[in-house]
Amino acid sequence: MRVIFLGPPGAGKGTQARRAAAQWGGLQIATGDMLREAVATGTELGRQAKRYMDAGELVPDDVIIGLVGEALDRPETRQGFVLDGFPRTLAQAEALDRLLEERGLKLDRVVLFRVPDAELLDRLTARRVCRECGRNYHLKFSPPLRPGVCDACGGTLYHRTDDEEATVRRRLGVYDRDTRPVIDYYRRRGLLEEVSGEGTVDQVSEAVRRATEPGR
Ligand code: AP5
Repeated sequence: MRVIFLGPPGAGKGTQARRAAAQWGGLQIATGDMLREAVATGTELGRQAKRYMDAGELVPDDVIIGLVGEALDRPETRQGFVLDGFPRTLAQAEALDRLLEERGLKLDRVVLFRVPDAELLDRLTARRVCRECGRNYHLKFSPPLRPGVCDACGGTLYHRTDDEEATVRRRLGVYDRDTRPVIDYYRRRGLLEEVSGEGTVDQVSEAVRRATEPGR
């Protein structure tokens, strides 16, 4: 499968992309994770990206498009990929068309996750992320067994700086302004499938499975 997971911050794109990529055997291409890794390792890209991320703003298109182009050249993409957090602007969507065309690839589906804003805010302000393996927790819905410690790898859990309430509200505004037009871009091309991002993680996975069934 070659799919895009689209939706507002906190809709569950990362949670579902990790599962889908493991199930389908393809690569999860998560631009947010790539940027956070660059910030953590202190690269020039990380230094540039940090101020946008901390403010809840989008990192400039050319930087992101370059990152995705490199990821698409990785051998694991031969089995497919899940784009998680990209494209987020019309310019990125058009650039993705070019990147795919250059590689002779076609998109199979775009899955849009719908979740009300109040729940998004609740999910993000109580999210904790493992510094080592990137696994997500929620203090109420899916807490770790031991506070502050990752069940999977024992790593330390942290609160993303852009998950502070004011920054989450800013990110939701940026989604409305810059990313909503991308939904219509794919709807017009008949690639869009909408799923409810509410319910348990398993229920959402089942909705994603149905939305990506071949021949649908
Ligand atoms: P990024 O990391 O991509 O953040 P995002 O899109 O805002 O998405 P999130 O990671 O916040 O949410 P998600 O939808 O993946 O949900 P998750 O599964 O984690 O981007 C961060 C920043 O990087 C951007 O603001 C921007 O600056 C920059 N950036 C990244 N890509 C860019 C691009 N293409 N262009 C320009 N800039 C870019 O789940 C959220 C929480 O909910 C977790 O706690 C989880 O445990 C919980 N949860 C998940 N599913 C459920 C469920 N079914 N029920 C209850 N809780 C659930």
